Amino acid sequence: MINSTTYNYLNSQETPFYYYDLELLNSTLKSIKEEAAQYNYHVHYAIKANANPRILSLIQTFGLGADCVSGNEIKRALENDFPANKIVYAGVGKSDKEIEIALDAHIFCFNCESIPEIEVIDEIAKSKNKIANIALRINPNVNANTHHYITTGIAENKFGINPWEFEEILQLLENSENINLIGLHFHIGSQIVDLSVFKSLCLRINEIQDWFLDHQIIVDHINVGGGFGINYHKPDEEPIPDFKNYFALFNEFLSLKANQELHFELGRSIVGQCGSLISRVLYVKNGINTNFTILDAGMTELLRPALYQAYHKIENLSSKDLPENYDVVGPICESSDCFGKAVSLPKTKRNDLIAIRSTGAYGEVMASNYNLRLIAKSFFSYDIKK
Ligand code: LLP
Repeated sequence: MINSTTYNYLNSQETPFYYYDLELLNSTLKSIKEEAAQYNYHVHYAIKANANPRILSLIQTFGLGADCVSGNEIKRALENDFPANKIVYAGVGKSDKEIEIALDAHIFCFNCESIPEIEVIDEIAKSKNKIANIALRINPNVNANTHHYITTGIAENKFGINPWEFEEILQLLENSENINLIGLHFHIGSQIVDLSVFKSLCLRINEIQDWFLDHQIIVDHINVGGGFGINYHKPDEEPIPDFKNYFALFNEFLSLKANQELHFELGRSIVGQCGSLISRVLYVKNGINTNFTILDAGMTELLRPALYQAYHKIENLSSKDLPENYDVVGPICESSDCFGKAVSLPKTKRNDLIAIRSTGAYGEVMASNYNLRLIAKSFFSYDIKK
């Protein structure tokens, strides 16, 4: 929902572009901070969701850590003032160069995903005369009930270490002089809206902790990853996810051992609702079975519908006419370049301003320059003169 000042501002910019409501981001961060503080939980922001520097610098002021998945994300986090001792680094394929960047920056923890990775980190740390803090990323085999492309914690996924490897890992750690085990890490998938999935994760973590306890190991922290979903259908009614119930669930079902910290890595739930992709209607075209609204934004600016058949709410900001049904498509030469079929919109015409909502997470970061398109700019609510 936007007022006329915002509309005029947006309408005066060259489209397409990403628009971020920083007031909403601010309120979302306040809510997380308040709810997490009740249990002294530590929240890291998953930079992969949105690495825009303006977004990062606002998030950083709330004291969140950073969850990174590449050497460049670590650099971006440091450039935007996330303290190195609050940076965690996950990923199944960390290159030697990236491991060096992380060691040189003295990050808090590597979330390790395999035995050979631990061996390589130990070797590189030894050559630098450093100790690497690590957490084991464990594949808990819990089904996240989400799109199969964004589920990560079941046996068939490439992510994490499997329980049958634990004995071998403990032996390896005994002989790895430059590795210090400080945590257990889990992340089972993204856009999880069924909270009972997180309950299953907690119960599974309790079992896994018992195994480690039987082997005289209590780590300093448990990291339960991210994955908390947002309501793509109701961005105005539910702009801020229910963090109260989310954190309360972990408090109820996860058995932490004495002095153990609980860490989270939230991406989408923090930034998802604050972003919109703003685009203009180029043409309205009558097809055989349907009418097309052809936008100047495409899968190059927002890949999610083409890649995951993801739903994003589409609004015509310029018209209050009676609604008609359109297939809303982009200009890219791919049939999957479609934002929605039979979308009911106030009658569209050339140059109408169209908002594609809830694009703050995995929108701008997944942009490409396919068809040699330019990467779209971003604009921010804080810059609108009220
Ligand atoms: N931690 C790890 C280890 C992750 O792999 C991810 C996301 C997160 C945290 C943050 O998850 P979130 O809270 O944002 O769900 N491109 C896809 C989503 C891919 C998620 C990848 N990993 C999409 O557009 O839906």
